[in-house]
Amino acid sequence: MSPARFIKRYRSPAEVDTALAHYRWLLSLGADVGLPRLLEHTPWTLEFEHVSGRAAELGDLPAVASALGRLHHTARQRGLAQAMANSRYITSDVILDAFAGPRRRRLHELCAVQGAGAPLSHEAIGAWLDHAAMLPVALYKDANPRNVLVADYREPVLVDFDSLTLAPVGYDLAKLLVTTAMTGGDLPPRVVEETITAYAQELPDTLDHSRRTELTVWAEFHHLLTLPYLGHHGYRYPWPAVRPWPAGEVHDAAGTAERNL
Ligand SMILES: Nc1ncnc2c1ncn2[C@@H]1O[C@H](COP(=O)(O)OP(=O)(O)O)[C@@H](O)[C@H]1O
Ligand SMILES: [Mg+2]
Repeated sequence: MSPARFIKRYRSPAEVDTALAHYRWLLSLGADVGLPRLLEHTPWTLEFEHVSGRAAELGDLPAVASALGRLHHTARQRGLAQAMANSRYITSDVILDAFAGPRRRRLHELCAVQGAGAPLSHEAIGAWLDHAAMLPVALYKDANPRNVLVADYREPVLVDFDSLTLAPVGYDLAKLLVTTAMTGGDLPPRVVEETITAYAQELPDTLDHSRRTELTVWAEFHHLLTLPYLGHHGYRYPWPAVRPWPAGEVHDAAGTAERNL
């Protein structure tokens, strides 16, 4: 009997080609991370093995963070460590867009509608986007909890290969924390700690004492970028209502890059 399929349809063959290149490159890294088996592709579809399981939840965060950390560690060992987060990464197999360029305009647009008093100013956004060039680089594959399928007694499986860019280490961890909290509510501090530790353990050479500052700021980036989807995709809680650290820490962290540059 052939396995059940998850068929994803695309708006153009070019989108299929892009997602296919991302998937193949991730698979070729050989990281110890769950990925679905690709059964077939057509000009308009990718057809994966159907993975049983549910979207990641609070209790899965450490295991998911660990998988993301392992993926980055392997990718870095296989050449990604030489990339610069703010310059395109081009190999014979894949092209990964830079971190800052494609995000800059959208972040400033969203910042403009937030109004005064928001933790991230235009200056802080600009300074942190530029600062990313100096930070250890990783991949960014949308780390919302629906892009991770979890079943009992099995490692999490990462799905959705449509977008893949460069980003500083920790950027996807911030997305995972923000979107899980926006979906399910408060994140207990113990779980946050375990999640950060699980990720850091897989990336011992890249995360130092400043990681909390960076994580705090990237979380606010994701807050801005995800706020328009509040009320959709299961996002029920605005990040400021469930943020697991004080707003004062955010203001302090946001100013750090400006002071350092
Ligand atoms: N291989 C798969 N097996 C089972 N379910 C899947 C698979 N891939 C994706 N899904 C489910 O379908 C949802 C949508 O797929 P995804 O590729 O994330 O598309 P979208 O671009 O809409 O986010 C996922 O959140 C996940 O729940
Ligand atoms: Mg998805």
